[in-house]
Order: sequence, then structure tokens, then C-alpha cells
Amino acid sequence: MSTSPFTINKTPKPIHSITTKNRKMAGLFPHPDSLEIFDALSQYESRSMHGQLPVVWDRASDYQIFDPYGNVWIDFTSTIFVANAGHAHPKIKKALIHMIEKDLLHTYNYPTKIRAQLLKYMVENTPKNFEKAYLMSSGTEATECLIKLIRMHGKYIQKTKPGIVSFQGAYHGRTIGAAQIGGNAQSQEWIGYQDPNIHQVPFPYEWGLNGVSGKDVFHRHLDELGEKGVHPERDISGFIFEAYIGWAASFIPKDYVQEAAKFCKENGVLLAFDEIQGGFGRTGKLFVYEHYDVEPDLIACGKGISSSMPLSAVLGTKAVMDLPDVGSMSSTHSANPLSCAAGLANLQIIFEEKLVDASEEKGDYLHKRLNAMKEKSNGYIRYVTGKGLLAALIFYDPVTQKPETYLPSCICEKAMESGLLLVHTGRESIKLAPPLSIPYDALKEGLDVLESVVLEQVKLQHAA
Ligand SMILES: Cc1ncc(COP(=O)(O)O)c(C=O)c1O
Repeated sequence: MSTSPFTINKTPKPIHSITTKNRKMAGLFPHPDSLEIFDALSQYESRSMHGQLPVVWDRASDYQIFDPYGNVWIDFTSTIFVANAGHAHPKIKKALIHMIEKDLLHTYNYPTKIRAQLLKYMVENTPKNFEKAYLMSSGTEATECLIKLIRMHGKYIQKTKPGIVSFQGAYHGRTIGAAQIGGNAQSQEWIGYQDPNIHQVPFPYEWGLNGVSGKDVFHRHLDELGEKGVHPERDISGFIFEAYIGWAASFIPKDYVQEAAKFCKENGVLLAFDEIQGGFGRTGKLFVYEHYDVEPDLIACGKGISSSMPLSAVLGTKAVMDLPDVGSMSSTHSANPLSCAAGLANLQIIFEEKLVDASEEKGDYLHKRLNAMKEKSNGYIRYVTGKGLLAALIFYDPVTQKPETYLPSCICEKAMESGLLLVHTGRESIKLAPPLSIPYDALKEGLDVLESVVLEQVKLQHAA
């Protein structure tokens, strides 16, 4: 077991040369010329943006990432769950070039054809309970919008309090509202106050249920709110669930969600999912909530909605979406024409190229391989989570039985040096999210690399 903290090594060192159809690595890594970029970023940029693996992105195409020095990676990140349709899809590029060449780069909230086209296509191709949508730039804005709509609805139907229930440890973004419904007391410390009408309940990890049903856990959560003086039927206006808990790709127990949905229906409470990471095909269904067989009132989407440009959306029923008055929910960059063009092309690709089915099928192969890897990991990989082309490996030290954070970081670093980019969480998990367009040969090659790195690092860790 190693207890030394992991730091990302940015000193150039020789790496093994690799040349395959899908990967290329050679020479020193990081490349000595990249140091100039790292130095400039460290001098001129807030360090809050730093901490990622030192891969300098020069271009990215479909499932591959290229740096300016000749290295090529298989991408198991989709940047960060964004490039569902693959990087720089030709149809998205064409739509963007068309917008650029006709000189339409910014339009504020004036009407545009492309915005109308995107909204029509999105609403007509998503479940019928979503009758209207509102477009923004970032996922965080979309979760803030959920908070606003839920509270406006609570007031409208005369709830006594604008209470919102969400999960501890979830991630919804970094602004004040989003940070208060996500994270924990420590991550919220900077806020300086606690909204008395935001109630976080523990996330019901499947592995922590100890034989208790999700349904019973839900009622226990309601009872605990009651003990704190919250009257759930009266004081709660909505639930905002991260559709699966991000860091672990762990799904909510289905009977927990179904019981919550029943409670919502019976008590005029809105049910909302944050689908920003999992929406638009990532988990083998169009939206994650479909795995739970419920019908939410609202969803927040981002990331894979455009596979590229900054775009997010909240979708919901007409009655809820039209609660804010004319002009009272808008922003300078909402529905930028380039973002809309990319969004429309991306959604057409997702449906026309059947990427949701592709995610489910390739996901079966991905999860079979990862579960086989778990069996060979000497107990270091305790759980394989996720669905479709979303997965996480959760690491524990088999001796201390504690979460293991050093090993996954080492695996991410070694995989990077071998031409495979993984989502480095800095926690006891590694996340995998290749573009849904990844061909089988590249998926297999990436998993072969991952398996050999995992087995090698587990052996080293065991010997240490
Ligand atoms: C589930 C979830 N919600 C919200 C956000 C915030 O989105 P953004 O970074 O686009 O503001 C993220 C981003 O990682 C996310 O994964």
C-alpha cells in the first residue's frame, strides 16, 4: 500500500514507443516544448483550472486526440462526457462553418431560424412530457434554472416553503445555488450561509443499502427531514436528483426513485433530474431517468447536447416552463447561433446514426471486459458501475478495506503514457466515457491497454 500523495509529473521522461492504427506515443513525455504552455498557464491563470493530466490538445477527431508533438490517444473521456457524437463530427463542422460563413456569430435573444429549428427538433424528439425548453450556455446555469422553476412552481401552488431535496455528494456545478444542492458541508464552506430550504439527503449507494430496499430508504429520508422540522408534503417544492452520482457512476436504486416519483405526484412536488452528464445517449438510453421508469417534470441537459459548443437546456412541461414572466429568464449568450447549429446537427447525428443503441451495445462489451478485469485485480477493483458507454472502476485497498486513491491516479498516468486517456477523478474511481461513435477495434484496443496497466499497477502496489 502506498500512502504518498499523487502529484502529476510534468518532468519530461522517455516513454515506450507505440504505433498502432489508433495510438502513437514516442520520445519524451510530456514533450519539452509543452513546458512553455504549462508555465504560461501556471503564471497567468488561476490554479483552480489546473490539475488535469498534461495532454496538450491540438486537435481531436472522432475517438482520437492529437497533441502538437505527434502523440495520438484513444479517447475514453469524450473530453468530459461532451463528445457523444465523436469529436469534430463532419456534420457539426459543416453546420458551424455555414453559420460562420453567413456572418451570424451572435444574436442575443432576437429571434433566429436556427434557434427555432433546434427547439422544435429537440422537443419533438424527446419524450412527450417535455413540451418546452429553455437554452443556456453551461450545465451549471441549467441546474440554477431547475432551482428557480421548482421554487416558482412551489409558490404558484402555495407550498408553505420553497424546499428542495437533493443528494449529498452530488455535482451540479459551482455557482451558489448549484453548489448548495450538491457537494457537502466542506465544499459549501465558502458560501458562508446555509439556505434553510435546501435539504440534502445521503446518496443511497447500492452497496450501502445492507438489505434495506430503496423504497424504505426513501421513507427514512422523509422521516429524517420530519425530525428536522421539515414537513415533506407541505414544505417541499421539488426533488433534484443527479441522475447517477457523478464521481462513482453509481445509479440510484430504482425503487427509491419510483417511490420519490409517487410521493411527488401525490403532493404537488416537482421531480427533476440533472441529466447534464448522462443525457443524450451516454448510458444506453436517451436519458438516464428512463432506466428508472419514471416521468420527471423537468430535466437539465448540457455536455452531450452539442458534443462541442457551450450549450445547455432545461426541458419541461409547458405549465412549468412558462412560469417565469416574459423576458425574466434570458442571458446574453443563451442560444448563441453557433451553439444552436452545433446542437441541432449533434441531435440529428445521435438519432440518425442510432448512437443511443450503439451506446447500449458497445456498453455490454465494455462492462463484460471491466468485470473480467475486476476478477483479476486482486481485490483492488471493488465495484464496476455505470451503464452503456459510461463506466467507473471503484478502487479499495484489500488489506485496509479503505478507498484507494493513489492507485487509480497512477493507472490514469500510465494509461496516458500508453496512448489511452481516462477520466482522472482524483478520488477512488476511474471513469470511462468514450465517444458513442468509437469503433469496436479502438474500444477493444483501449480496454487491452487499460487491462495491462491495471494489472501491472496492482502488482506494483501489492509489492510496495
Ligand atoms: C451532473 C452535472 N451537473 C452539472 C454540471 C455542471 O456543468 P457545467 O460544467 O457545464 O457548468 C456537471 C459538470 O460536470 C455535471 O456533471
